[in-house]
Amino acid sequence: MAGNVIIRPLGEDEREAWNPLWDGYLAFYKSALAQEITDLAWSRFHDPDEPLFALGGYIDGRLLGIAHYLFHRSTWAHNRYCYLEDLFVAEEARGNGLGRALIEEVYRKAEAAGASRVYWLTQSGNTQARALYDKVADNLGFIQYRKVL
Ligand SMILES: CC(C)(COP(=O)(O)OP(=O)(O)OC[C@H]1O[C@@H](n2cnc3c(N)ncnc32)[C@H](O)[C@@H]1OP(=O)(O)O)[C@@H](O)C(=O)NCCC(=O)NCCS
Repeated sequence: MAGNVIIRPLGEDEREAWNPLWDGYLAFYKSALAQEITDLAWSRFHDPDEPLFALGGYIDGRLLGIAHYLFHRSTWAHNRYCYLEDLFVAEEARGNGLGRALIEEVYRKAEAAGASRVYWLTQSGNTQARALYDKVADNLGFIQYRKVL
């Protein structure tokens, strides 16, 4: 599926095209969210007072990938850090460079916003994602602990 790849912020009117990608991402993680949470995330992407952002990846004008990221303070730096929270490319569009292009656009957006770091998490067994990540960033060996409250 070679084609013209474009990455740009998702418009408020693109919810319908975004929904199946978000659902696909949640299904990938065998997760489900209350509709209210999905609605909240979507509204925050388009609220200038919120530090949450969404990029769309398009091949020949079709939305086939998404990346969501946010900025937060750090005790380790003057500037904020950028956390890439979600990355998903539709199964039929994988291997066309969309994932890489989305990450690289997050780098540009973070740099333009004055952030000093972009980072993200992945599961150690996600070999497909890690094949890409190993090419675009460094794995410093951190593992995540989590306590659900
Ligand atoms: C991870 C994911 C976003 C990658 O998207 P993609 O559009 O297929 O990635 P790209 O086409 O940009 O691949 C980039 C590089 O990784 C390599 N790569 C990607 N998938 C690969 C695979 N299955 N095996 C080997 N290499 C692979 C490609 O060779 C490519 O290298 P290149 O840019 O030097 O040619 C996509 O597989 C996905 O959505 N997976 C399911 C959800 C997921 O895991 N999200 C990330 C959670 S942390």
